[in-house]
Amino acid sequence: MLRLLAEQARTARDRLPADVHDYYATGSGEEVTLGEAEAGWLRHRYRPRVLRDVSHVDTAVRLLDAPLAAPVLVAPTAFHGGLHPDGEVATARGTGAAGSLLVLSSRSSRRIEDVAAAATGPWWFQVYVLADPSLSRHLARRAVAAGAGALVLTVDTPYTGTKARGGGPPVTDREYLVNLGEHLAAGTDPDTATSQDPACTLDTLHDLTDQGVPVFAKGVLRGDDAVDCLSAGAAGIIVSNHGGRQLDRAVDTAYALPDVVAAVAGRAPVLVDGGIRSGRDVLTALALGADAVLLGRPILWALAADGATGVTAALDAVRTDLAEALALAGATSPTDLPDGLLADTAPPRP
Ligand SMILES: Cc1cc2nc3c(=O)[nH]c(=O)nc-3n(C[C@H](O)[C@H](O)[C@H](O)COP(=O)(O)O)c2cc1C
Repeated sequence: MLRLLAEQARTARDRLPADVHDYYATGSGEEVTLGEAEAGWLRHRYRPRVLRDVSHVDTAVRLLDAPLAAPVLVAPTAFHGGLHPDGEVATARGTGAAGSLLVLSSRSSRRIEDVAAAATGPWWFQVYVLADPSLSRHLARRAVAAGAGALVLTVDTPYTGTKARGGGPPVTDREYLVNLGEHLAAGTDPDTATSQDPACTLDTLHDLTDQGVPVFAKGVLRGDDAVDCLSAGAAGIIVSNHGGRQLDRAVDTAYALPDVVAAVAGRAPVLVDGGIRSGRDVLTALALGADAVLLGRPILWALAADGATGVTAALDAVRTDLAEALALAGATSPTDLPDGLLADTAPPRP
């Protein structure tokens, strides 16, 4: 893990009440998947090329139409209001200043329109399939109207996984319902209305493709599911196990990625998240075929430690580390990796 990310994580842990910290930090079950996330990337070894003139390294990429300083995005995570007084507005500012892209969670604790107004760069919106499907569509429509460049449907959450630690969402009722409240009929129980719809299917994904922007499917760990999602209209796939917060003992994403990349076969972008903590982790993901990665908890800790400035610093640090890793591997950009960069052999899985 990059030193800055470790320092920000320490500061956040020291600053936040223990149950608030644990709400964001926790995994599900026995936290097996959470515990293996970072090790998945650390298992791989490089075969760098030499004498390739790496005097100019450029980490910039385009993802769909979005120009990015590096192939590193901010993953959708819930309730930033529990970490910083400005919540997702601060995250959006910090992300834009780093030339990155925020995927705003459906469980944002600031109004979609306020986050959009603070965004200085591209942003996307994550959609949960809620028990009342009209609520999901209301949010998606508002996000697209406010400028979201893509929708990200989270497909690994038919039910919310039971967490190992922490309390409930550490935000006020007003923050909890800041986006959904206006769409709830009088007398509706908010907990019921905001629960997940376990009956969601590929049709649910297909139904979201009429909003005029590309739709990513987030939470895919298998090639066959990726192919099904593309057939249903997905414009891209995000390989994710939800940061170890859904099915505990699900495989790590470094393990899952190659199967999805092979199945997608270049037809659509493949992104990945989970345990990515350095530019070398990003390099490994790219070498395994990902087009970009997303950071979850590191951004939460950066926000708690130092607000928008902290978010920018975390993203800048990962980008700088990626530039160094690319150069030392013999590459000048994320799309110019040497063939055979990864060794066939790696330390055994723990
Ligand atoms: C506190 C927390 C809240 C999250 N909330 C959401 C969410 O609202 N929607 C979603 O699709 N994923 C959510 N995720 C999963 C992240 O998008 C991402 O998959 C995961 O955090 C990546 O792993 P990492 O934290 O190890 O970087 C959440 C993760 C955390 C830690």
